Amino acid sequence: MAIKYHENSKTFHLYNESISYIFKVLENNQLGQLYFGNKIKDRDNFDHLLEMQSRTMSVCIYENNPYFSLEHIKQEYPTYGSGDMRYPAIDISQKNGGKVLNFEFVSFKIFKGKKTLNGLPATYVENADEADSLEITLYDKLIETKLKLLYTIYNELPVITRSVNIENCGSDDIKLNRIMSLNLDLPDMDYEMLELTGAWARERHIKTRKLEQGIQSIYSMRGCSSANFNPFIALKREGCTEYKGEIIGFSLIYSGNFLAQVDVDTYDTSRVSLGINPHGFEWILKSDESFQTPEAVIVYSGKGINDMSQTFHSLYQKRLARGKYRDEVRPILVNNWEATYFDFDEEKLISFAEKSKSLGAELFVLDDGWFGNRNNSKSGLGDWHPNLEKIPSGIDGLSKKINKLGIKFGLWIEPEMVNKDSELYRNHPEWILQTPNRNLSQGRNQYVLDFSNNEVVDYIYDTLKNLLEKSEVSYIKWDMNRSMSEVYSLAHKSEDQGKIMHKYILGLYDLYERLINDFPNILFESCASGGSRFDPGMLYYAPQAWTSDNTDAIERLKIQYGSSIVYPISSMGSHVSAAPNEQMYRNTPLDTRANVAYFGTFGYELDVTNLSEDEEKIIIEQIKFMKKYRDIFQFGKFYRLSSPFSSNETSWMVVSEDKKLAIVGYYRVLQKVNQSFRRVKLLGLDPNLEYVISTYDYKVYGDELMNVGLITSDYSSGKYRGVGKIEGDYLSRLYVLKSIS
Ligand code: DGJ
Repeated sequence: MAIKYHENSKTFHLYNESISYIFKVLENNQLGQLYFGNKIKDRDNFDHLLEMQSRTMSVCIYENNPYFSLEHIKQEYPTYGSGDMRYPAIDISQKNGGKVLNFEFVSFKIFKGKKTLNGLPATYVENADEADSLEITLYDKLIETKLKLLYTIYNELPVITRSVNIENCGSDDIKLNRIMSLNLDLPDMDYEMLELTGAWARERHIKTRKLEQGIQSIYSMRGCSSANFNPFIALKREGCTEYKGEIIGFSLIYSGNFLAQVDVDTYDTSRVSLGINPHGFEWILKSDESFQTPEAVIVYSGKGINDMSQTFHSLYQKRLARGKYRDEVRPILVNNWEATYFDFDEEKLISFAEKSKSLGAELFVLDDGWFGNRNNSKSGLGDWHPNLEKIPSGIDGLSKKINKLGIKFGLWIEPEMVNKDSELYRNHPEWILQTPNRNLSQGRNQYVLDFSNNEVVDYIYDTLKNLLEKSEVSYIKWDMNRSMSEVYSLAHKSEDQGKIMHKYILGLYDLYERLINDFPNILFESCASGGSRFDPGMLYYAPQAWTSDNTDAIERLKIQYGSSIVYPISSMGSHVSAAPNEQMYRNTPLDTRANVAYFGTFGYELDVTNLSEDEEKIIIEQIKFMKKYRDIFQFGKFYRLSSPFSSNETSWMVVSEDKKLAIVGYYRVLQKVNQSFRRVKLLGLDPNLEYVISTYDYKVYGDELMNVGLITSDYSSGKYRGVGKIEGDYLSRLYVLKSIS
């Protein structure tokens, strides 16, 4: 068992080969946090780690004891009002109007494996030996409320997962105003906070800032996790780089409003909290009702950012993503969106599919515009039946025709939305989120269906199920194109309006769950105006996500590099699009576009019927190349080598499990004149293996490639050198390294 309870000191120690997480029952029967970090030896008693100090003017729990103050004791799940002056993990409005809470330790259970969380996505185990779990029960006598803190430690990974379940065992209602999935009190503030920020078309750019006293936080109040802030932060020590130093990553498996916050007090300690955003959340819990928070994941590394990312990749790829496609290489697809937008008919689609097949693609995806009266973004959303003027054979007929061509068929949907100009809205104007007597704002001319209302979710489920049953659909792109506003559900009472945003997400998860169960052979790709809901919650249902609407190869360097901080390569939808690029108007070479897109789930987003002979030849070769190597691209170990955020040159690489095969991607934004000799040090190779490098046809040992580097200079002589000419801006190269032994 990797979880120990020391009866005498009432101490819990969760540990594996790499990490230790220690906390104890304090003298007031609440829980105190003692340590989280690199593994330390177990012992009966860690009480000396308790930070108890007599501080003038502190509020203390006991008379004649100036030491026991919650103001400076590190806590496991802190509450407000008893001397701790920082933000609490939980806030409850109680019958008598008070806010003070006292959740006291009652009991615990240690068990092998891991529980599932009802209605919520969560990491899992395939057999009980993979992880150990601890469930601690706390109880507040005054409000007769039970709080269960759930912990899991994976045996082979430096990972702790946490969530909280609360149950009202009394007869009075209580109102939850805040219930975080995780609180972690750290003993100092010597960290930099790393976050993934952005906006539409520039998602998940890496930002870091030094922690300062006060609050620093990122959040979403948009109803989706958002392109603006990803539900993830990491705290890294000064000097921590990709390859060395201490870092703790915090990730929330949730797709809605979240808050990730670090509260640094004036004694320089840091409190991390992560969970559903308390703003816009109020949950009345009646007698016998319970509430489960989303799961938070903590990853520790003493070996730098890249090592932390690799842990997230393994966990999210193998123990969060599910279904048939979890372990399968992903089909190479052609999507018609950027080629046609809304302007297509059946003939055009068939010719696209035919051409895609002849290029070697395996899946043709029909994007927005196939249904209802959908010829632009103003109408049709919600009417999930084919537009027979555009597609006389319907989706069933078209999908069958396309499958007959020897290529699979995929379909775009946006099930959570409606245009006012649609049959669905005309029949059910009450089914959208709307606050009575207030203006209702639109986003992309559309409105948000009330997924907190089961009737709406059932209707959409029946409609989609019916459509998919009749057709030969192998892939679904599930889009969501607006932030939510004027959130209010006509289906719920006024006192329940604070539940709507979370209930919406539960409705969304429910719909996903039903559809993936009914159609286990369909590959789902999530999407939200590109990458606005690229989060771990979605990965539980859809193993891949459209990373960004920005398909420009140079912009994608940052977007994919940033996304890889948490998310595995197999989750990143990445396609080659036309040049000049639709979003950036930038011309990049076709091979650079592919060299970036290979590091993801590969495909094309351009008019395949309008290619030059040369382009066609190149694309055929690209598809062959990807088919040969996608296993390592999508499932190899990923290393970031040099960052597009700090350098003109980006490089990254994937390495196969046996280290006999590696592929390095090297990208240079601008050509520099008379440049210094360039090389990039590789990682993850076997130092004793000799590798043949594709571009050079030259053999080098792994130790040399990792210590001296792979030469990337392009104007040099000699066999083991660059390609011997200046190639201009937006250059890229792929190096395939194969072990010859
Ligand atoms: C936004 C998506 O990100 C695009 O790829 C495309 O599917 C459009 N929506 C369609 O409306």
